[in-house]
Amino acid sequence: MLIFYAKYAFIFWFFVGSNQGEMLLMDKISHDKTLLNVTACTQNCLEKGQMDFRSCLKDCRHNETFPGALRKVQENYQMNMICRTESEIVFQIDWVQHSRESEPAPNATYIIRVDAVKDNNKETTLYLSDDNFLILPGLESNSSHNITALAMHGDGSYSLIAKDQTFATLIRCYQPSKMGAVNLLRFVPQPDDLITLLPR
Ligand SMILES: *[C@@H]1O[C@H](CO)[C@@H](O)[C@H](O)[C@H]1NC(C)=O
Ligand SMILES: *[C@@H]1O[C@H](CO)[C@@H](O)[C@H](O)[C@H]1NC(C)=O
Ligand SMILES: *[C@@H]1O[C@H](CO)[C@@H](O)[C@H](O)[C@H]1NC(C)=O
Ligand SMILES: *[C@@H]1O[C@H](CO)[C@@H](O)[C@H](O)[C@H]1NC(C)=O
Ligand SMILES: *[C@@H]1O[C@H](CO)[C@@H](O)[C@H](O)[C@H]1NC(C)=O
Repeated sequence: MLIFYAKYAFIFWFFVGSNQGEMLLMDKISHDKTLLNVTACTQNCLEKGQMDFRSCLKDCRHNETFPGALRKVQENYQMNMICRTESEIVFQIDWVQHSRESEPAPNATYIIRVDAVKDNNKETTLYLSDDNFLILPGLESNSSHNITALAMHGDGSYSLIAKDQTFATLIRCYQPSKMGAVNLLRFVPQPDDLITLLPR
């Protein structure tokens, strides 16, 4: 399940050239330690298996009790785009095995940040997901979106999966180009197929 977490809009216009727009943004997001704490708490709560994702998140935002110190670790995750439309981008986050033994993917809650420029403003949207299959909804058509993803575990350790990977949505009413007539250039009969393919 993908849960909308927050949206920030920054008026780029005023800050162009001063670099301040960017700084403001970085402040709000990377230094949002509360987001990381709340996500770790949510994953911890999910592992106890007594509440669903939404209730865990609600409790964690409210209680402000956190499982442990945050620390960055290095794990092998891959983010792959599955498909896109004019308003959605679909991703899957895959866990890549280190060794040959098959270890299961660690439990994680994913933090997804989407950066886009809309009407000269930079807009950042944050989502949390307990699923590694993600459908980002409601995107502008024909525009670039930078995706940053992070996997958070219940003990406060987290891995960066992707940083500012750029993906574009399709133009509105996109249609694949028409397919013309197809000519068969050559046909190599296989001895075994002769019976079924050739008229007797
Ligand atoms: C992952 O979470 C499930 C419950 O959702 C739990 O049973 C399992 O032990 C957890 N695995 C790890 C490695 O923490
Ligand atoms: C939040 O606090 C309530 C009441 O103290 C408790 O029942 C609940 O388990 C807490 N939730 C988490 C995720 O710690
Ligand atoms: C996040 O949790 C840690 C460990 O529980 C705590 O020390 C820290 O103050 C918390 N940070 C924020 C911004 O709440
Ligand atoms: C997206 O990322 C590229 C670099 O990877 C950067 O140049 C661009 O400004 C970013 N766009 C937004 C909207 O954050
Ligand atoms: C899509 O975006 C490109 C680059 O921003 C622009 O040149 C083009 O006109 C747009 N196409 C449509 C159909 O909006």
